[in-house]
Amino acid sequence: MHFFDGTEYGADGALTLAARALELRAGATPRAALGKRLAAVFLNPSLRTRASMEAATTALGASPQIIQPGKDAWSLEVRKGVVMDGSASEHIADAVRVLGQYADILAVRAFPSLVDLEEDRAEPVLSAFMEHAGVPVINLESALYHPMQGLADTATWLDHLGPDLRGQPITLTWAPHPKALPASVPNQVLLSSALVGMDVTVAHPEGFELDPQLVARAEGLAAAGGGRVRITHDQAGAMKGARVVVAKSWSGFSGYGRREEEAAHRATLGGWTVDQALMDLSDQAGFMHCLPVRRNVVVSDAVLDGPNSWAFEEAGLRLWTAMALLEKMWGGAR
Ligand code: CP
Repeated sequence: MHFFDGTEYGADGALTLAARALELRAGATPRAALGKRLAAVFLNPSLRTRASMEAATTALGASPQIIQPGKDAWSLEVRKGVVMDGSASEHIADAVRVLGQYADILAVRAFPSLVDLEEDRAEPVLSAFMEHAGVPVINLESALYHPMQGLADTATWLDHLGPDLRGQPITLTWAPHPKALPASVPNQVLLSSALVGMDVTVAHPEGFELDPQLVARAEGLAAAGGGRVRITHDQAGAMKGARVVVAKSWSGFSGYGRREEEAAHRATLGGWTVDQALMDLSDQAGFMHCLPVRRNVVVSDAVLDGPNSWAFEEAGLRLWTAMALLEKMWGGAR
């Protein structure tokens, strides 16, 4: 089975993996996967995802291989049926067919263009991997999803809020940023929290809507799990009662085809920075961000370094959740 959007094992499976990650962090012995091989392909930069996947693979006694097309490997053509007379040296389908024979799991990071909505929704890189790998594929962040982040977030919620996350109030707030960013992380926060039945509030300025297809899916998951999803443009109001505040900047679904206009709008929204005064409106919420973060743009130093910041624990759990997932995918889990 592929791990594409983090819902593959259902709510119980996600919670079991998160609980296992907390056990591993507490010192449980990992179930070895000696002789197994993971190849991780990065089409975009990474610190946490790359380092945690590499460390988790090694900690299980398996071998990680990191490949960066266009840097230490041939640049890849992703479009189907094109005459390859441009800069790309190898078609993605061919590269993946080969890599799938060298590894037991392939993993890949591929950010969206933010230019063509239908192309981004189609996830051409992840789709090519899942079609041609012949082995399970792990999504290391794509146009729509970041399931490894979602698993670490779930483990963070479990650690702080206890085993039953149903009905726990969480607020995801849009935050300022100098650049247009993908919506994979906010999509994942929404999906992962809805999956486990949390009471999710999403706050964003007008014009920064998430993909309605994704929101509808999250609403369905939340309803099935005993939670709900609410969307608001009132950031301060969204803090009321929140036990968790997740900050992230993203580009708007409606911004496709009008990114310059969106950038001008974004430049007026500096008031959405998460600061202590905003956090004080919540129910002593823990602050989360996937990192990397622009300090004093997305979040103030005082909040990020404060006693209610869970952001660095969240990042640390990337290692343990990666180990828990690899244990399961390699057949070592209970
Ligand atoms: N949160 C996260 O995925 O970090 P990296 O982009 O550094 O991997």
